[in-house]
Amino acid sequence: MAKASSQQPAASSYHKPVMLQECLDGLNIDSDGIYVDVTFGGGGHSLKILEQIKGGRLISFDQDDDARKQAENITSRSFTFCQANFMHMKKYLKLNGVTKVNGVLADLGVSSHQIDSPERGFSTRFDGPLDMRMDKNMPMTAAKVLNEFAEEELHKIFGMYGELKNARTVAKLITQQRVNNPFQRTEELKLALRSVAPRGKENKYFAQVFQALRIVVNEEMRALEDFLHQCAEVIEKDGRLVVMAYHSLEDRMVKNYINKGKVFGDVEKDFFGNEIKPFEALNRKPIEASEEEIEQNSRARSAKLRIGVKL
Ligand SMILES: C[S@@+](CC[C@H](N)C(=O)[O-])C[C@H]1O[C@@H](n2cnc3c(N)ncnc32)[C@H](O)[C@@H]1O
Repeated sequence: MAKASSQQPAASSYHKPVMLQECLDGLNIDSDGIYVDVTFGGGGHSLKILEQIKGGRLISFDQDDDARKQAENITSRSFTFCQANFMHMKKYLKLNGVTKVNGVLADLGVSSHQIDSPERGFSTRFDGPLDMRMDKNMPMTAAKVLNEFAEEELHKIFGMYGELKNARTVAKLITQQRVNNPFQRTEELKLALRSVAPRGKENKYFAQVFQALRIVVNEEMRALEDFLHQCAEVIEKDGRLVVMAYHSLEDRMVKNYINKGKVFGDVEKDFFGNEIKPFEALNRKPIEASEEEIEQNSRARSAKLRIGVKL
């Protein structure tokens, strides 16, 4: 079968892949195997996987239309792209005649391209609409969360997903301000938050608020949980689950799932006391990017890579 076409997307300007070699090593690629990259982005990881595939197949997912456009540049016959949320991975694999795979890669979160596009509203650096959708066909936006969610709900969201110490104060401030001035733009939100942000640490604080909103808009926790459970069903024995997370909430879910077979709660045991879990962690601790990589790509700083081997 054909290798990755020479007509490749300019992956590096779209997004510089993080821990590329570590992810490839984690997948332990068999050139005749079937692999899934559920977060195509600019295709940095997908292209490298394709280079190692001969008789096998790569099926990549992304819910973002911009990622789909990048994927259209790949003409390899070994490659299939699904524009879909990875919470539907199993269904789309089945539609493509695949029920078992040798490895799944997930590089969670948003791409540099998404962050660096002011009109997407993900960045605290530029003014833009309070959108934050990865999939522009979905109905929820950050503006809707801010203008329509109840104060108690906002309190919970900022506490849980933004890990803000003063989540209650922020929720109150937002619900008061939106009565006369509904939130439309990222700059308006930042302006409102200035009075409650810790002095000198405003940018970190804004990033936490934006993270919380992004998680809710894209239902990131639910998508990750659904996806992880499907991995146990689709990955072959000895196959690999390779997941890179960028914040502690996600990493905790991935860690729990790989170590205990559950995103929340303790591992189950059978009658004889044997643990019932689909994966065994390859490493006790997560793999982190080298200092050299972090110097060249600051995004790599918070990445935690975990690898599960299917039992
Ligand atoms: C960190 S980037 C991946 C970058 C990619 N590995 C590369 O090297 O170019 C994450 C990508 O996953 C996509 N994504 C995030 N959550 C998703 C989900 N639940 N379903 C489908 N795509 C998702 C985002 O749209 C984004 O393009």
